[in-house]
Amino acid sequence: MTLDPHLFVVLGATGDLFRRKLLPAIHSLAASGAEVVVLGAATSDLGDAGLRDLACSALSVAGVDETEAGRWCEERLYYEQIATDAEFSGLAARIAQIEDRHGLAGNRIIYLALPPIAFPATIDRLGAAGLARSRGWTRLVVEKPFGRDLESARALNEVLHAHFEESQIYRIDHYLGKETVQNLLIFRFANPLFEASWNRDRVDRVEITVAESLGIGGRGAYYDRAGAVRDMIQSHLTQILALVAMESPVAFEADAIRDEKVKVLRSIGEVDPDHVVLGQYEAGEVAGTPIEAYRSLPNVSADSNAATFAAIRLNLDSWRWQGVPFYLRTGKAMAERVTQVAVTFRRPPICLFHGLPDGCISHSDVLYLTLQPDEGFSLEIEVKEPGATNRLRTIPLRFSYSEAFGEIPDAYETLLADVVEGDQTLFVRSDEVEEAWRLYTPVIAADDDAHRYPAGSWGPSEARRILGPNVANWATGPE
Ligand code: BG6
Repeated sequence: MTLDPHLFVVLGATGDLFRRKLLPAIHSLAASGAEVVVLGAATSDLGDAGLRDLACSALSVAGVDETEAGRWCEERLYYEQIATDAEFSGLAARIAQIEDRHGLAGNRIIYLALPPIAFPATIDRLGAAGLARSRGWTRLVVEKPFGRDLESARALNEVLHAHFEESQIYRIDHYLGKETVQNLLIFRFANPLFEASWNRDRVDRVEITVAESLGIGGRGAYYDRAGAVRDMIQSHLTQILALVAMESPVAFEADAIRDEKVKVLRSIGEVDPDHVVLGQYEAGEVAGTPIEAYRSLPNVSADSNAATFAAIRLNLDSWRWQGVPFYLRTGKAMAERVTQVAVTFRRPPICLFHGLPDGCISHSDVLYLTLQPDEGFSLEIEVKEPGATNRLRTIPLRFSYSEAFGEIPDAYETLLADVVEGDQTLFVRSDEVEEAWRLYTPVIAADDDAHRYPAGSWGPSEARRILGPNVANWATGPE
């Protein structure tokens, strides 16, 4: 892979995202040959030396050798303080100076590692300072959340489009950078065996679960205004849903794939309020570690109704999926950390095994695609248990990523390499964002009392209600 030499401008360079995710990913791309110079900008008075110190310790935490980190930071890292509009022209001048010094041709990534509230004004300032265009290419990277509801998402897209072309905008949903999420497309469209069964004739229901064992910790100020539907469902789970349910694209390229994802979202009508269950965790224990109740966390109001759990049932009005329920479920402080898609296939139309013990309590075949942490898949099928008595047993056919391939690269590295290459496949287009908000804005507006669940459980038991009378339990989680 040959990547264009470029300048990586990070607005919000003193934040957590830059230290923990972006720097290690940029350094790793540089180590594999990419020519990149980094200009960090933020409001503090740090100076080049201050940013280099901060970056060096972040890189050592990420496992980079200290001498190597020191050398790289010294040669490749700069800092510019920005606090006012006028300083955006200062930023433009500094960019030109650094490009000149390193002989760069004007290819730039501008990364907004900022609190979302700062996005619109910052984008306007970039435009006003002439930073939306350059001699080479300019690409703007925006982190989720893209708005708080349909109205604010539209407003954000308008500001973006006032200064940048859609082809310059890279909206990051880091789930799309995860290897296993990308593999959903390969799994489906490179294996006709599965694709032939991927429809309402064969599939009974689909569950998408993102369970996290961690609570909210120190993120109360953000989370109490967001909640699980905004934080996880509108973005990560809906992206997974789109990849699981989409039709085959006409080509394996960005817009063809994103066109099909949008069609999935457009096929979903209004969410039925009876098909939504929200929850909030109370004190409990996860794997032996005590977890405080959500309401007692710093920066969370004592009577907060923010949902830390959400389960939603969606119906897709499409030829392929008519009548097949899709369940999205996510929660914090859950019993374990697992991100999984469970596709439950229909039962055999008749039972031939009346004479066998349990012969007709037939299990359905279930395909589990585990996206993290034990990446891989497992297909549960029925076999005959050996022995004189005929008895059926459910056994899994498994594939494990780590056994086959070893370590999986970090999502940010993949995504940043794609930005440099100009490949928008793994980035969210403006119409996808707005369609997703169309779906969930009424759910957020109707957000009332969340059911309580103890930390360390699988969420409020009320969530089972949305499975309907014929389904005993979730496919992901305890029996
Ligand atoms: C973020 C959410 O987008 O994704 C967090 O804001 C969540 O609340 C995180 O914990 C989960 O990401 P991952 O990669 O750890 O599954």
